[in-house]
Amino acid sequence: MRKILMVCLGNICRSPLAEGIMLKLISEHQLDIQVDSAGTSGYHIDEAPDKRTILNAYEHKIDLTDLRARQFTIHDFDRFDEIYVMDKSNLKNVLVLTNNEHHLSKVDLLLNASHPNQNKEVPDPYFGDEKGFEHVFNLIHHACLKIALD
Ligand code: 4NP
Repeated sequence: MRKILMVCLGNICRSPLAEGIMLKLISEHQLDIQVDSAGTSGYHIDEAPDKRTILNAYEHKIDLTDLRARQFTIHDFDRFDEIYVMDKSNLKNVLVLTNNEHHLSKVDLLLNASHPNQNKEVPDPYFGDEKGFEHVFNLIHHACLKIALD
């Protein structure tokens, strides 16, 4: 079984959406994948996803209401095989926690799955408008399809 962790800053917008999209793909295609998400910050621990993210996901028939935010920990390097971060700031926050080459090799920017070697970022929609959430959905969905089905 592949064990995949999605990581952003707050674990209330981008990474829970990535988790929800993966859970839907896993269920639809009966994939042998386990998925979780976490934030590099502790700002929103135990909170449900942002209402705007929940609403956007719901428009795509994905229910995020049971998810709760947690903080990324150093133990996640051992618990997961693949760790996908949304932007370069998340990447830095994760990489500073380890010098272990095996741990480091598990980490990549999510959008390198859909746009190989381009080091593109999923923009942070938290301080933006509703349109930002749909853009973020499309970016994350495209990358998750590649991760799950290629
Ligand atoms: P996320 O978005 O990292 O996609 O969950 C954010 C959520 C909260 C904050 C920043 C980004 N914040 O600063 O509280």
